Amino acid sequence: MDVGIVGGTGPAGRALAARLASVGLEVAVGSRSATRAQEIVEEILKKWPDRTLPLTPAANAEAAGAPLVVLATPWDAAADTAAGLRAELGGKVVVSMGNALAKIDGELRAVVPPSGSVAAGVQAVLPDALVSAAFHHLPARALGDLTQPASGDVLICTDHPEAFEATAALIRRVPDLRAFDAGSLAAAGPVEAFTAVLLGLNGRYKGRATIHLTGIDGDIPR
Ligand SMILES: NC(=O)c1ccc[n+]([C@@H]2O[C@H](COP(=O)([O-])OP(=O)(O)OC[C@H]3O[C@@H](n4cnc5c(N)ncnc54)[C@H](OP(=O)(O)O)[C@@H]3O)[C@@H](O)[C@H]2O)c1
Repeated sequence: MDVGIVGGTGPAGRALAARLASVGLEVAVGSRSATRAQEIVEEILKKWPDRTLPLTPAANAEAAGAPLVVLATPWDAAADTAAGLRAELGGKVVVSMGNALAKIDGELRAVVPPSGSVAAGVQAVLPDALVSAAFHHLPARALGDLTQPASGDVLICTDHPEAFEATAALIRRVPDLRAFDAGSLAAAGPVEAFTAVLLGLNGRYKGRATIHLTGIDGDIPR
């Protein structure tokens, strides 16, 4: 197993699982329910019958046993879920993709979690883990559409060089995705919050916009 996705049964986790599996990575799709994990993996495989996708259904604790783990639960469940998996996640690279958003007056707005970001909240409950924040700006619909390249620039925030390298290496496995060092975990708040702007744009323009940086070359090791 290469990657475990905790909460992998939602749109974001499914899309990431399918995309990573499409480039040959072995992915455990984690859930609180073994039955649901099984159903979702079958659903993904049925959707892409001509692809060989190395996906395995798993309980969240099993998914958390993978060498690199992505947290894809709702943002407000990320820290509690991570805390419940402390034994499995200690010492590992844990990628937080949660965006702290709330629907207010009919639009999704960024909210600031007590730790400043979802990722910082995860790092606070997992002091021994190497937490990074990434994948916030990739819409699940585009990421999971294997008929199209998953083009986009992925901003990575972390306090750990090893976590940056492991997260960037994962991103680089997907053609057309670029990985960027967006700074320490202190930068994760604004990175997560910008997703509210992107979602608003995608709603108003009926799009699948993500971010592409210009005037900068990607993939410079930290
Ligand atoms: N959707 C996107 O386009 C997108 C893009 C980038 C980032 N994100 C971020 O990625 C994360 C997941 O997004 P999503 O749309 O896939 O979310 P979601 O469907 O609401 O939740 C994902 C999975 O988390 C599990 N879950 C639900 N409530 C939980 C709880 N209280 N405790 C633990 N697990 C729970 C569920 O799996 P089980 O019931 O099977 O356990 C669910 O299928 C979010 O934080 C979001 O901000 C989303």
